Amino acid sequence: ASTAATSVSISGDISSQLHGGYSHPLARSWQAERQLTKSMLIYPLFISDQPDEESLIPSLPGQYRFGLNRLVDFLTPLVAKGLKSVILFGVPIAPGAKDALGTAADDPQGPVIQSIRLLRRTFPDLFIVADVCLCEYTSHGHCGILRDDGSLNNSLSVDRISDVAMAYADAGAHCVAPSDMNDGRIRAIKLKLIEAGIAHQVVLMSYAAKFSGCLYGPFRDAAGSSPSFGDRRCYQLPPGGRGLARRAIVRDINEGADVIMVKPASQYLDIISDAKELGKDLPVAAYQVSGEYAMIHAAAKAGVFDLKAMAFESTEGILRAGATIVISYFTPEFLDWLSN
Ligand code: PBG
Ligand code: ZN
Repeated sequence: ASTAATSVSISGDISSQLHGGYSHPLARSWQAERQLTKSMLIYPLFISDQPDEESLIPSLPGQYRFGLNRLVDFLTPLVAKGLKSVILFGVPIAPGAKDALGTAADDPQGPVIQSIRLLRRTFPDLFIVADVCLCEYTSHGHCGILRDDGSLNNSLSVDRISDVAMAYADAGAHCVAPSDMNDGRIRAIKLKLIEAGIAHQVVLMSYAAKFSGCLYGPFRDAAGSSPSFGDRRCYQLPPGGRGLARRAIVRDINEGADVIMVKPASQYLDIISDAKELGKDLPVAAYQVSGEYAMIHAAAKAGVFDLKAMAFESTEGILRAGATIVISYFTPEFLDWLSN
């Protein structure tokens, strides 16, 4: 029997023999350039200005909107399981909280600044990212300050957004992440951070390649941030715009971004891979957005696939494309599913 086996392997073509290389689970894990670990995950949190609020978001299965008084109880078990980072979105609900300038965005008593302080105090090892935008706080729901004709006033918007970023950094955010897509905001924020003497201790994460489209609906339900007229197509990128995304990525690297983000994730894997190539010396983040998450839940509920299997498969695809950071609504579940 041993001579037969030897003669087959010597005379046959052995270049086709791949199975041996991934027959064992550990050997399969070696095939990936990057393994998903807990430290790659950032968990989005919606924080309302109603201190005792704890309400399920209907279009975002299993996700809640919390008031300040509910945050610590919710996060304590997650931190114990290895949660490393959260990204905060403020949700002003109080009547009259919104105006044309998004004044509430950097209200020192508002939910974002208050929760940055609370989380820094309560969870000293938790990395706090603050999303920076005006759409949750403006009466018109757009991501900046508007001209009379309804178009964005880019320079007023950049002034305002960089002030908001500074307020979050001053309150103790480890990272500020502008998601507004106004031109030149990365440079403006970096300059203000330098001027204030805190540029060396704040990560500037740019939503550099953020595409417009239909995948943000559940987020806008959760945050109450749908535009009251028009859409975001004049500032978020057109879905076919790969070259434009590359220009935005290069621009934001040159303006001082420390991390480049691509969003949504699974529909834009080529852009993630472009970001990795253009920003090969930077971490690349990918945001698996609300619509992607809701879609996976809906399909799992319809019996198309198993939820956990697709949570892994979609996230592994995002890593394979080149991401080193994943912003994911599945984070609490991954903390249970992953061992490191
Ligand atoms: C706000 C913002 C949005 C998201 C992150 N920051 C919504 C939007 O641009 O309308 C989307 C996140 C998600 O859908 O999960 N500028
Ligand atoms: Zn916005």
